[in-house]
Amino acid sequence: MRPPMTRTFNFSAGPAGLPTQVLQQAQAELLDWQGLGCSVMEISHRDRRVVAMFEAAEAKVRALLSVPEDHAVLFLQGGATAMFDLIPANLAPRRIHVLNTGAWSEKAIAAAEKVAQVQVTGQAPYTQVPDLPEIGDVDYFHYCHNETIHGVRVAEAPDLSVPVVCDASSSVFSEAIDWSRHDLVYAGAQKNLGPSGVTLVIGRRSLFSDSASVSPVFDFSKQAKAGSMVNTPPVYGVYLIDKVLDWIDASGGVQAMQRRAVQRSDALYQAIDQSSFYTNPVQAECRSRMNIPFLLADSALDQAFVSQAESRGLMFLKGHRSVGGMRASLYNAIQDGAVEALIDYMREFEAQHA
Ligand SMILES: Cc1ncc(COP(=O)(O)O)c(C=O)c1O
Repeated sequence: MRPPMTRTFNFSAGPAGLPTQVLQQAQAELLDWQGLGCSVMEISHRDRRVVAMFEAAEAKVRALLSVPEDHAVLFLQGGATAMFDLIPANLAPRRIHVLNTGAWSEKAIAAAEKVAQVQVTGQAPYTQVPDLPEIGDVDYFHYCHNETIHGVRVAEAPDLSVPVVCDASSSVFSEAIDWSRHDLVYAGAQKNLGPSGVTLVIGRRSLFSDSASVSPVFDFSKQAKAGSMVNTPPVYGVYLIDKVLDWIDASGGVQAMQRRAVQRSDALYQAIDQSSFYTNPVQAECRSRMNIPFLLADSALDQAFVSQAESRGLMFLKGHRSVGGMRASLYNAIQDGAVEALIDYMREFEAQHA
């Protein structure tokens, strides 16, 4: 099916654009899912067809990310922010080491500090990934793979003898995960995977405490045993995720997502670096492939840049309020041609204002 002409180029940092085909399929099934004469939202999550859909989504996550057998795949609620508290609650650590590469790492640190001793490596300004010191006797190491606000990516996961926990909210499914270096990976769905309201948690079952003092809804061990259905789960969110996973698979899998992300982000960084009007402060080897913040030479032009962009269908480019400037988010579902259209516009704007 041809995408409707009203679909703009969506550079939102999240919630972000979903593949047009996924939305079209969801639209077609909204009144009648699997011949039931109602949508998937309108029936019990215990219905065998819904249970089968959850199992299929889990199987697709496992296949696309090559998840090891001894890891559970959970579809939870609360967003990645809830996980900042719930991971310590479920893993019951006394000491943690956290790599701090930006605003989301800071939030994970603040949550962990409520219950454990936290050693931190890294500080603002977030323009590089610092070298790690010797990681001593800690219960786990936490890092954020892709800092959505600062545009910093940890290019190589650390190879440690302690469990490694990773916030992959803004990069999951844009590249493979090396499971020999990760023990628990989590991500809010609303960037690369589906709508907000679902949090994907993939973790080694042996890490989960059997006596976590949290609601069973947030107890990883209980949710793993219950197929993410301790209580009523976010069914529509998982339904859309299931379709996005099909789309990733049909588009060539995670490898294809990675290839596109490298091409698109390289093209945009090149345009920024070749200009004397736009700048990105992040060191080349740790630049994000998903979120590309950039500043204009004169911040007084920011508003004009955003509104002229929108009049050309280049949407949601305004940077996060904490760093200012612009941010182009290039998640998996961004349409072909979006980056080229943005670069053309940036060149024109520069020619008018430099
Ligand atoms: C890297 C990262 N971690 C955590 C979060 C928080 O996610 P949520 O709003 O789902 O709690 C975000 C949100 O943008 C994020 O980008």
